[in-house]
Amino acid sequence: MGAHDNKDHSEGRSLDIAAHILEFMGGRSSLHWGYWDDPDAVSKVTLQDYAEAGDQFTKRLVEAIPAGVETVLDIGCGTGELSARLVEKGYAVRALNPSRAQCEIARRKLPPGTRVHACTFEDFQWDGDAPVDCAIFSESFQYVDIPAAMEKLSKIAKYVVIMDYHKNAPDALQGGGYDREVFDGSYKESGFRIDDYTDVTRNMKPNYIFKNAYYNDLMIPIAETILIRMRQDMPLVNFFFGGLVRRKFLKIDRFRMKAERSADPENVVRWITYTLIVLANEKLA
Ligand SMILES: C[S@@+](CC[C@H](N)C(=O)[O-])C[C@H]1O[C@@H](n2cnc3c(N)ncnc32)[C@H](O)[C@@H]1O
Repeated sequence: MGAHDNKDHSEGRSLDIAAHILEFMGGRSSLHWGYWDDPDAVSKVTLQDYAEAGDQFTKRLVEAIPAGVETVLDIGCGTGELSARLVEKGYAVRALNPSRAQCEIARRKLPPGTRVHACTFEDFQWDGDAPVDCAIFSESFQYVDIPAAMEKLSKIAKYVVIMDYHKNAPDALQGGGYDREVFDGSYKESGFRIDDYTDVTRNMKPNYIFKNAYYNDLMIPIAETILIRMRQDMPLVNFFFGGLVRRKFLKIDRFRMKAERSADPENVVRWITYTLIVLANEKLA
């Protein structure tokens, strides 16, 4: 582990679980929404399709890296899918991620000597001799403190590539997302200009088809099976703790709500805007 190793600040335990499941099932684990070239032609998304859409997302992101870039900092690197692709393409890569579990998986995919720092971007200290050519946020921008991140990036990165989403309204029924207003107020102030801004929301639509099947066909049946077993085999435990297990541990009502919200893929377009943004540092680029 590198000098920047830190405590695991990641709140994304569900992402760690998703990473382990996806690695076990298919040997790769992009932890983002995926990207579909022809989203309106998609009516079903299997795990295999989802993994391929993850690769398409990574491909689209790599295509956006400005010409001349040689060194890359993969911020919030997940399990290293993007970093591994970048290494393959000849970039010199450094990665960071507060989740120790994800860092461990990433290290297994990357050549020995590739530095994967187990820390948040907020805690990360750039110690390179020169600024990094390009910092990349692959659906990880929504997790950082944006004004502080832009300020830090203005000192260490020539370009910044961001692929992530913001909500279209505060009451949109999709969780997460970066704050668009805070971003708009920060990047210029920190000395960046926008070189490219592409709306890729429609290419993300089939994510809801996958999500809907994930809740309806996997998570809800698993939770229901556990509840039935608990009622049959542990009636006393069920009597005293059944409600708690159902709500806090199995989260079955939450799964039902998520299944309902993802039932119509057009909701993606209604609720979020997924953007691919390339920023250039006016002082360094
Ligand atoms: C949605 S996942 C995307 C992972 C990966 N970039 C990908 O595209 O598969 C978000 C990632 O951001 C990381 N993250 C969360 N908070 C962070 C922070 N403050 N600084 C850097 N990364 C963070 C998470 O641990 C996770 O790996």
